[in-house]
Amino acid sequence: MENSEKFFWGGSIASHQCDGAYDQDGKGPGIMDYVTAGSVSKPREFHDKCRDGVIYPSHYGIDFYHRYKEDIALFKEAGFTALRISVDWSRIYPNGDDNEPNRAGIEHYRDVIKELKNNGIEPIVTLYHFELPMAVVKNYDSWTNRKTIDLYLRYCKTMFTEFKDDVKYWATFNEMNHLDSDMILSDFFTYMNTGLCYSKIENPAYAMTMCSYNMTLASVKAIELGHGINPDFQIGCVFGLTPTYAWSCNPDDSIAAFKAMDRDWYQIDAMCKGEFPQYKINEYKKRGINLEISDEDKEAFKKSHLDFIGVNYYGSSVISTTEENNSGDNFFGGQNNPYLKQSDWGWTIDPKGLRYLLMVLDRRYNLPMIITENGLGAIDKLEEDGTVHDQYRIDYVKAHIDELKKSIKEDKVNCFGYLMWGPIDLISATTGEMKKRYGFIYVDQDDEGNGTLKRIKKDSFYWFKEYTKNGGNSS
Ligand code: BG6
Repeated sequence: MENSEKFFWGGSIASHQCDGAYDQDGKGPGIMDYVTAGSVSKPREFHDKCRDGVIYPSHYGIDFYHRYKEDIALFKEAGFTALRISVDWSRIYPNGDDNEPNRAGIEHYRDVIKELKNNGIEPIVTLYHFELPMAVVKNYDSWTNRKTIDLYLRYCKTMFTEFKDDVKYWATFNEMNHLDSDMILSDFFTYMNTGLCYSKIENPAYAMTMCSYNMTLASVKAIELGHGINPDFQIGCVFGLTPTYAWSCNPDDSIAAFKAMDRDWYQIDAMCKGEFPQYKINEYKKRGINLEISDEDKEAFKKSHLDFIGVNYYGSSVISTTEENNSGDNFFGGQNNPYLKQSDWGWTIDPKGLRYLLMVLDRRYNLPMIITENGLGAIDKLEEDGTVHDQYRIDYVKAHIDELKKSIKEDKVNCFGYLMWGPIDLISATTGEMKKRYGFIYVDQDDEGNGTLKRIKKDSFYWFKEYTKNGGNSS
């Protein structure tokens, strides 16, 4: 891209959604291994034990664990220069607190990273993408306990040290901003981040506050730890950001929209403004939660140095202070925008929202950014001749990239990459379905895990390859 020295084109995937092999090579049980398949109308369930005859999609994923070479070759062919992968903590420390790391887990990721580099694809590694060893939930109460910070840091240290010379770009967490004691707090969002179900815990607002605080602190400490191991590391954190517009020009709506965004900013603020934000502490106080920050923690926030912001962007929301205009029908909270359409899964499609979001982030933080996720979950039809005509996906991705180009060119935003979500079809995180497909590459598998797993290039595969050629400047 024109005014960026190095611009990454590529995709993002997460271990628990694509690997499978959930009990192979010493992997321990992770929180997502107990989550059933669901659908847009049937929520996924979380089980204490895996039950016979029940489908747990993380157990098979799309078998990326064994097929990564074939898939990476396809990514290369599509013109990818970066791939964001996640490391599943339970492959490295099966119980979270084991004395020694699991060598087979480390060697697996070494092979994947080597394969990427041999194909000219930069690995961008997320250390926590809804992947927490279940034993940490059972034995330590997950992130409510500060001991989990130490366990996480030990795992990070292992990864930073093992891959000191092979990985430059790291992300400490994926979308932990969905944990906020005041927002949509569905069982699902809290479970994905912590392995705890909101409706089943005592004093959930307090527990979630402690989880988000401890994870934020863990991120800050991991960044410092990583920079100590290799000062050239670029260590960021990935956030799921949903710009919220005011429904009307009623100043009350503007204030509500501004405040709604605190849930997306406060952790970024804590990671790059030198302190855990007072506005969040005040908000907790209003809810009867007294968050005491020790001098040691204050020191950690003061030293914090976030290298980049990872932006997961799927759509926007609207908020109104008038009850009749606040239907609460938006997937991420607030309501749907009458000017915009939604996907088949009810996610608002708003390419201009990406430009708006990047401008706000740039003016607020002045940090390098990368689009770490963006994409359209849709139902694809595999034709008899083996083709998939997904013009809707091409339209979606192109519209977002076009807005991104405007932010870089006109708004002078510092963005160094566009990684689309799920470049190869994988298991949906929120519904556990296979039919909610994001990929340029079709995977022959259904919602029950049946199929040949054959990889098939969709029309969007050829389009992306062409569109991003020559750094994306020719289109
Ligand atoms: C992001 C997550 O929030 O959304 C991914 O980081 C997830 O893990 C993606 O897959 C899309 O959500 P879904 O539910 O459509 O898979």
